[in-house]
Amino acid sequence: MTIRLTLQFIIKNLLFLIFVSISFSAYSQELRLKFSHVVAPDTPKGIAAKYFADSIKKNSNGTIIVDVFPNSQLFKDREEIEALQIGNVDFIAPSVSKFGPVGINDFEVFDLPYLFDDISELNLIVKGDIGKSLLRKLEEKNIHGLGYWFNGFKNFTANKDISNVKNFRGLKMRIQSSKVIESYMRHLKTFPQVLPFSETYTALQQGVVNGTENSLSNLYTQKMHEVQSHLLMSNHGALLYCVLMNKKKWQSLTNRQKELINSSFLSSLEYQRSIVDKFENEALNEIKRSKRVKIIELTKDEKSNFSSFLKKSYKKNYKRIDKDLIMTIENELSKTKN
Ligand code: LMR
Repeated sequence: MTIRLTLQFIIKNLLFLIFVSISFSAYSQELRLKFSHVVAPDTPKGIAAKYFADSIKKNSNGTIIVDVFPNSQLFKDREEIEALQIGNVDFIAPSVSKFGPVGINDFEVFDLPYLFDDISELNLIVKGDIGKSLLRKLEEKNIHGLGYWFNGFKNFTANKDISNVKNFRGLKMRIQSSKVIESYMRHLKTFPQVLPFSETYTALQQGVVNGTENSLSNLYTQKMHEVQSHLLMSNHGALLYCVLMNKKKWQSLTNRQKELINSSFLSSLEYQRSIVDKFENEALNEIKRSKRVKIIELTKDEKSNFSSFLKKSYKKNYKRIDKDLIMTIENELSKTKN
């Protein structure tokens, strides 16, 4: 074997070895991603985020690791959306009530009081064209939307009896950064105040605000029932989340990685849907067991009076939210009621 053939043989095998090691390291190289959220781990969103991370790890044979940071450890409400846009975090799942500051008002349509009777109505809209078209709007903000998670319905709490509309007058209410929520709080003659979720307990405890609204699992896990005297079972609005990824990071993934993340999200959604009611019921039982708040149940008539009163606030939002969008949703839902 001449020297030239020997050299050719050595070079060929060397190149092959280099190629194999590069492709092997590319395939087995671990991709580490960060998921930040503001609620406690033992909540419908906390559980879903962990489930999502575990599914990705399992489905990627450990090549994609998602570290989950709950309880605003990394970022508070407003910061987390900005952090996602600039790539300081890879995944977040904020409430759709917090997109106004990002300049996408239409998500606040989901805050209209008593627009949805239950989660299946909400699901019908978010899984349909409306839900998908809203997700597409996020792309122009350097955000890729994977889909929606649920956290049941919100109820009002306060440090006084709020069993009728008049009693809300003059209360200082903590709210999320939604103009629609602000409009119905003003309609109740309260003083709405936007505060980060993580600061709500202390603000209630110190009397900076006297009341708020949230899902039962959020009220319980944040111990808000310990600094409020009354809980009105109003079920007046949905707490809906949007699971988001930094767009550049999404675009940097291989098609296989994108499929894997999408399928892990879909299985987390199914799982999440199956646990929401359980978490909300358990939270209510714990709140009842604590005997710290007076729980006010509304009769059917009282609820319909309360609903028609709050629905009068819709027209205040027709400039902010596309009126046709509200009408389209109401038409879609009316079809399910017939
Ligand atoms: C809130 O700020 O009250 C909620 O959006 C918190 C959450 O993410 O459930």
